[in-house]
Amino acid sequence: MIRSIVRGTGTALPRRVMKNTDFAGVVETSDEWIVQRTGIRQRHIAEPDETTASLGEEAARKALEAAGLTPADIDLIVLATSTPNNTFPATAVEIQQRLGMTHGFAFDMQAVCSGFVYAVNTADLHIRGGMARRALVIGSETFSRLLDWNDRTTCVLFGDGAGAIVLEAAEGEGTLADRGVLAASLRSDGCHRDKLYVDGGPSTTGTVGHLRMEGREVFKHAVSMISDVIETVFDQAGITADDIDWFVPHQANKRIIDASAKKLGIAPEKVVITVDHHGNTSAASVPLALHTAVADGRIKKGDLVLLEAMGGGFTWGAVLLRW
Ligand code: UT7
Repeated sequence: MIRSIVRGTGTALPRRVMKNTDFAGVVETSDEWIVQRTGIRQRHIAEPDETTASLGEEAARKALEAAGLTPADIDLIVLATSTPNNTFPATAVEIQQRLGMTHGFAFDMQAVCSGFVYAVNTADLHIRGGMARRALVIGSETFSRLLDWNDRTTCVLFGDGAGAIVLEAAEGEGTLADRGVLAASLRSDGCHRDKLYVDGGPSTTGTVGHLRMEGREVFKHAVSMISDVIETVFDQAGITADDIDWFVPHQANKRIIDASAKKLGIAPEKVVITVDHHGNTSAASVPLALHTAVADGRIKKGDLVLLEAMGGGFTWGAVLLRW
């Protein structure tokens, strides 16, 4: 059977780093509060010349380089983003054009913080269905442009950045020993859509709007939703938490990550944490964390890797893959 294996990873971060102490004079907060409640120490904030498309392009080029491929080898681009350069066309086609591609097809996916997990699953289905041989799966966000910089309950939490992977069709045996995407589960429930949303849009206000979140409410649901979808993936694959080599969760809050790992019985040393450096970068958070653990040598060929995310909608999902 066909499997989608990861051939390369890459990332891009805006030049400007904003530390917790840089909020002095912006909102009433403290480094201590932010670190204790979230684990965040700094985030990258895009300058005017840095956009979702430019960061996505840079991450894609690095993933292609790591894979030893060129844009000519790619036939599908799936971009997970909630901060597109324009309402339309899809920012994915701008990245396609920036990469010099006039072949293949490209589209955006909008599942907020779960976007990258949704996009990996979507690209995997296209590859296994024979629609594409090699896909660039990108998560790229400029959430700083959606933030209300007067609202301390949200503006300290988010950052900008991008991450990308190259997925490629390969023959597998149909067993757990195969490399590539092995199992996935996606969920959403629109009943919760007013707990984390943007208060504008083309069809309502005609404006871009600002991010609004009932943080405590999101926190309350996060751990059980994350655990639920991961247990579904474990059941599909016939594995337990002990079989996982690396857990790469969405990076919103270290307390949510720690509580989820504890509930699932995943050992702390298997958990990849980057929220301290990047803050919550929405759809970019999982590929940024994934690349970090690949680049520093933690994730190696043959390792069993579990990706997970939860965010606005609510949307949530998990993907199990062998490196
Ligand atoms: O990626 C999508 C998923 N999103 C998430 O996973 C976010 C989920 N939620 C969270 O991570 C947490 O709920 C937050 C980090 C947003 C907040 O942490 P919390 O422990 O739930 O704090 P809280 O909202 O209960 O607020 C506690 C106190 C409040 O003061 P009072 O009412 O107790 O006097 C807030 O006004 O902290 C205050 N507060 C702040 N203080 C200093 C809120 N924001 C700040 C701040 N600096 N930036």
